[in-house]
Amino acid sequence: TPSDLRDILYFTTNLARRAGDLILEGSKAIHGISAKDVGEKKNSVDLVTEYDVKVEELVKEEIGRMYPEFKFIGEESYSAGSQHPLTDEPTFCVDPIDGTTNFVHGFPFVCISIGLIYYKRPVLGVVFNPFLDQLYTGVKGQGSYLHTRGAQYKLPLAPPRPLPSLSQALIAVEWGSDRSAPQITAKSDSFLRLAGDPNPSASRGGDKAKVEGGKMAHSLRSMGSAALNFSMVAQGGLDLYWEIGCWPWDICAGTVIAQEAGGLVTGSSKCSHNGDVTEEILTGRKYVVIRAIGDTEEEKGRDAQKR
Ligand code: IPD
Repeated sequence: TPSDLRDILYFTTNLARRAGDLILEGSKAIHGISAKDVGEKKNSVDLVTEYDVKVEELVKEEIGRMYPEFKFIGEESYSAGSQHPLTDEPTFCVDPIDGTTNFVHGFPFVCISIGLIYYKRPVLGVVFNPFLDQLYTGVKGQGSYLHTRGAQYKLPLAPPRPLPSLSQALIAVEWGSDRSAPQITAKSDSFLRLAGDPNPSASRGGDKAKVEGGKMAHSLRSMGSAALNFSMVAQGGLDLYWEIGCWPWDICAGTVIAQEAGGLVTGSSKCSHNGDVTEEILTGRKYVVIRAIGDTEEEKGRDAQKR
């Protein structure tokens, strides 16, 4: 019920703040981090630290104590082999440190992302960046909010302005950790189509009129955290976020936060077959576009090999 969700939100928000303290402690401890303290998962850019594991342990334990009957999906538990099928039961879905690469480098776009799924739909999300003290919350049917420096703001901060075309958008994209040749080619081709000058003869000081008639986006951004990209679309700082190859814990909390702020979260059905963003999905609101992994048989096969 709405009041159950409010109680769970109160619990989850406090838990995210405790997890945030541990992330900050970890950041102090690991700077001056040596390569031996950073583990690699499927390749040398898929990083994990002892703090990813510690934060997940804390969150899992507290959830187990408060809501013993709820199921749990967590990035690190999943990597360690705890892979249960999604049911209709209430299920917490957690990324203990979203933006692990940022965490390792001291780039302050790092968060804990805690989502709740019920009947296979995300219904509650809390995303907390302890470095910037920014806490985003979203509850289905109850709106989403940014809490920062003691104040609370309803999202989006300003009414979404209609976007007639991609050419006026600020778009988040991510390189992700799959850098295999087909993936990196598809991604960078899409980046080029989104941000490159469509006029082949355009150059600095060239034919301005032709450039203005083009479709290139205002620019691309990469925050290095899927949950923070979703939250920034909800806030109104980004118009769109597009990524290939996210996991449920990357998107669960952010989905509710973005949807409750009026955004649309969509999988590949609204994208062209290669996952490219098309003009057809832009009809005047802020959009989050995400292409979930495992959408095609080919991707399912690749995922099974990866983890
Ligand atoms: C990753 C980040 C990154 C995104 C990847 C995610 P992690 O999560 O959100 O921005 O590109 O798809 O897996 O590994 O830092 O928890």
